[in-house]
Amino acid sequence: MKRIAVLSSGGDSPGMNAAIRAVARTCLFNDKECVGVMRGYEGLIDGDYIPLNRAAVGGILHRGGTILKTARSERFKTEEGRKAALSKMRDAGLEGLVVIGGDGSFRGAKLLHDMGMPTIGVPGTIDNDVAGTDETIGFDTAVNTALEAVMRLRDTASSHDRLFIVEVMGRNAGFLALEVAVATGAEYVVVPELPLSIGNLCQKLRVSHENKKSHTLIILAEGVMTANEMKDKLQDTGGYDARVTVLGYIQRGGSPTSFDAILASRMGAYAAESLFIGKSGVMVGNVNHRMVLSELERSWTEQKYLSPEMLGLVEKLN
Ligand code: F6P
Repeated sequence: MKRIAVLSSGGDSPGMNAAIRAVARTCLFNDKECVGVMRGYEGLIDGDYIPLNRAAVGGILHRGGTILKTARSERFKTEEGRKAALSKMRDAGLEGLVVIGGDGSFRGAKLLHDMGMPTIGVPGTIDNDVAGTDETIGFDTAVNTALEAVMRLRDTASSHDRLFIVEVMGRNAGFLALEVAVATGAEYVVVPELPLSIGNLCQKLRVSHENKKSHTLIILAEGVMTANEMKDKLQDTGGYDARVTVLGYIQRGGSPTSFDAILASRMGAYAAESLFIGKSGVMVGNVNHRMVLSELERSWTEQKYLSPEMLGLVEKLN
């Protein structure tokens, strides 16, 4: 293998650039060439490549977003689109591909692997909803970004004795919400993985009010409902007047934390080296602090569970 490509796909996440840099520099270290594919699978279909030499990936380790840009491609879901992508890759002498993204991106990676193109996934998403790895690239940064924002809200909640609902991202998973809740000392966390009874929540709010708890913070995962919907429900069921904050895309931007910069560097290097020794159809994971490979399918067939210990902490420590 002499020449490989790397792309980022799906939602951007802090640390994707560090992973791109690691793939490119690992290629250089091993006397191989690396190209970057622009706009994810869209660029793969169009043959939109840029050379990733030493200078091209200089100064990007701590930059948020992705220099290769990213997209969610409808064309790649068609056989015609995939065939076009493969033929463009072959014409360009590309012999392998590293895909940085979440489970949706890994479905595309698996299809390319099945068509005979050696492909390896690197999990990059703020949602941390990918089985086969303890953490995904960008998750830690998103937790820290949300932590900073929520601690500011706490000041206001406490000064005015208010009830705040903070909606965080995470798609259909509650990993982000749970870590933010524990890190901020929130009173409640509402996640898609657990059933929600507004009646019970109102009852708990009543008890904590009777216990002279003056302000309350609820961290809500976007996969359950919107914060405004929850506000209306709390008003209708318990007469509560909650204030609402939706953190939104703020959680996706910014420089990676040291944890994410290191995780991305390790994963990018491991992915490239795994391709060189003939691995394909697998994704890189960080399991118990070690780099491992597992089948790409795991990312969409296997459910990753929230830690019961962490869930218990929110209840115990509030
Ligand atoms: O997967 C990352 C994520 O930020 C989710 O948390 C969120 O639901 C989704 O992407 C938003 O997607 P888009 O960028 O397409 O609006």
